[in-house]
Amino acid sequence: MDYGLKNRLSRIIKPKDNRTVMLAIDHGYFMGPTSGLEDIKSSIVPLLPYADSLMLTRGILRSQVDAAIDIPIVLRVSGGTSILKDDLSDEDIAVSMEDAIRLNASAVALSIFIGSKNERQGVINLARLVDKGNRYGIPVLAVTAVGREMTRDARYLSLAVRIAAEMGASIVKTYYCDDFERVVDTCPVPVIVAGGKKTGEKQALELAYNAVKNGAAGVDMGRNIFQSGKPINMIMAVRAVVHDGLTAEEAYGTKL
Ligand code: 5RP
Repeated sequence: MDYGLKNRLSRIIKPKDNRTVMLAIDHGYFMGPTSGLEDIKSSIVPLLPYADSLMLTRGILRSQVDAAIDIPIVLRVSGGTSILKDDLSDEDIAVSMEDAIRLNASAVALSIFIGSKNERQGVINLARLVDKGNRYGIPVLAVTAVGREMTRDARYLSLAVRIAAEMGASIVKTYYCDDFERVVDTCPVPVIVAGGKKTGEKQALELAYNAVKNGAAGVDMGRNIFQSGKPINMIMAVRAVVHDGLTAEEAYGTKL
């Protein structure tokens, strides 16, 4: 593997345990001022010491995150639609690789929508982004299965995740499901799990625990951290599950 690409990946998935806690705050790119993300400086910046990397858009990075803060950036580079549309799949590459490099991104992220009417567009966008990333040693995180109406089961998710890997993604983000090991076992690159809509803290920690137990390389969690009543404690608890091997119960008991 290319040195730069490998080096950037190791900033995200920590070599000591091959795990990661990625804090996702990119929701505004199609959801607008999501609850908990209205004021990034006060709600998110205090969480950064506990995150292995931060996933966000260039607009929020430039305007809200001090460049002196030492955190690997996973830059969301796809966009083009909003929650006002029934179909979220009409996305394109919305940021150049040169700008991602200027922002010192450790990886770039793009969504694909397998089974949607814009499936082909997303898959080709991913392949083109991988080509551009390979030119400069920038890994691509493919985001799968975002959308309202779909059965997020192992059959669908393993299809979506495998297609992302086949197109050259270095990491794939998806949702947790029953038989999750099937999704991971048929994917040749690390799989990380999104938290999804806000649930109870214990439930979100259980999701993180089951995900890593069944082979995930960690989480890319947003709302279940920044919408928690105790976001710092919650991200510490997620870390304890992902990196320290605590059960959800143990992490909840010691951190929350
Ligand atoms: C949306 C995303 C989010 O980053 C992802 O869903 C993770 O956030 P959450 O844990 O809130 O689901 O990629 O397209």
